[in-house]
Amino acid sequence: MNQYQSVTPSMIEELKTIVGAANVVFGDIEKLEPLSHDEIAERSYAHMPECVVRAGTAAEIAAILKFANRERVPVTPRGAGSGLSGGAVPLYGGIVLLCDRMNRVIEFDRDNMTITVEPGLVTNEINPIVREAGLFFAGYPMSLETCFVGGNVAENAGGGKAVKYGVTGRYVIGLEVVTPTGEIVRLGGKLMKDVTGYNLLQLMVGSEGTLGIFTEITLKLMPLPRASVDLLVLFETAEAAIAVVPRIMTLGGIIPTAIEFMDKTSIDASCQYLNETINSRGAGAMLLITVDGQDAAQVEREYDVVGESCFACGALEVFVADNHTTSERVWKVRRNIAEAFKVQSPHQSLEDIVVPIAAIPKMVSGAAEIAKKWDIAIPCYGHAGDGNLHATPVMNPAWTDDEWHGKLPLILTDLYRLTVSLGGTLSGEHGIGHKRKEYMPMVCSPAHMEMMRAIKRALDPGLILNPGKIFDS
Ligand code: LAC
Ligand code: ZN
Repeated sequence: MNQYQSVTPSMIEELKTIVGAANVVFGDIEKLEPLSHDEIAERSYAHMPECVVRAGTAAEIAAILKFANRERVPVTPRGAGSGLSGGAVPLYGGIVLLCDRMNRVIEFDRDNMTITVEPGLVTNEINPIVREAGLFFAGYPMSLETCFVGGNVAENAGGGKAVKYGVTGRYVIGLEVVTPTGEIVRLGGKLMKDVTGYNLLQLMVGSEGTLGIFTEITLKLMPLPRASVDLLVLFETAEAAIAVVPRIMTLGGIIPTAIEFMDKTSIDASCQYLNETINSRGAGAMLLITVDGQDAAQVEREYDVVGESCFACGALEVFVADNHTTSERVWKVRRNIAEAFKVQSPHQSLEDIVVPIAAIPKMVSGAAEIAKKWDIAIPCYGHAGDGNLHATPVMNPAWTDDEWHGKLPLILTDLYRLTVSLGGTLSGEHGIGHKRKEYMPMVCSPAHMEMMRAIKRALDPGLILNPGKIFDS
């Protein structure tokens, strides 16, 4: 039963007094539709909002949440909408709260190596600001040219540099948060250490917009690596390529920045989408390996060792990209795989399973077996060095839509069962949203689920903020 109220014209008038009439959209289907979905290809995960409100300040967001609790209207926060698990989808209608107007850099503090930004800043805009000071932000989600920092924090985004640098949460040291009941709270700051009470800051990171809305985000910056080299390594088969990954990780003394895996279907799709060519010489799969550091000679020594190990494990070819143009070309192909598949067919399920790194070869061969069993394609690519694989079941073109929707839950159950049997879990970086919530009991015990539900109830007793995500309350 829907426990929420519908948005009424008189509610809209009140919202307009909070954010200004120009920042409220109501009753305009064409303008509301783009906010009914994120980047998931399948529209069956979409749901229309009743209205959209573009907030400009924390005080406005607090007022909206107080209003929403009073009127019993759900609020779904939204960044750039580049998510892949439905986190920004207003499952119960109500208000979509956009933060695109809140895109300022509040402070770049060089001495403390931090930058404080609003949630609507595009992630890729941080590095040009801090580069001159010899610093960089290590977050590198594949959607960095469009995604917002707020969404990265809400999803604890991973991406292409996490093997060495870790994921977004490692760099989030301060937050101003509007709570689900409309209080404004500051957590952390510019501190490198802080054990003052519960770690609520990291509870917020990855909470998928269910526990608070971030209005100021302080990020720790890192020294900018002066040298960086990419290796593009070709293998005859996906199995051969992936088998090298645990070897590289255990070489001793070398932690590559990135070890990305792409099978042939993924490379071809992205190249075709971008009208790009990579001389893959008939390879069945590729690894894209980045090594960076402060010292060019050391980086060279390290990539030599990595390249030699690849050859020792049967690599067909190792290309070295030591200039920005070539590196960027290859990384662009990598970053655009998801978009390329999305353009090809809406009937696919972009997955985000993650297993311990030593198990990643078994994950790839297991996914191939599942593909065979169901007579579908499951192209694979992803952040192999993190054990994080974007296996993507794609509908058999001979099937009807109904057949696909009937079989997909069974296919996903097989894939998740395999993942769990290897010590893995449902999502490494895209989150649960509402796309994966029904599978949560496969990885979380009843007591674990109840801990999460208790936290949600404590912070959001009216279940106003992004209801229906991660689990049903
Ligand atoms: C990527 C996105 C889909 O790795 O996470 O391309
Ligand atoms: Zn990814």
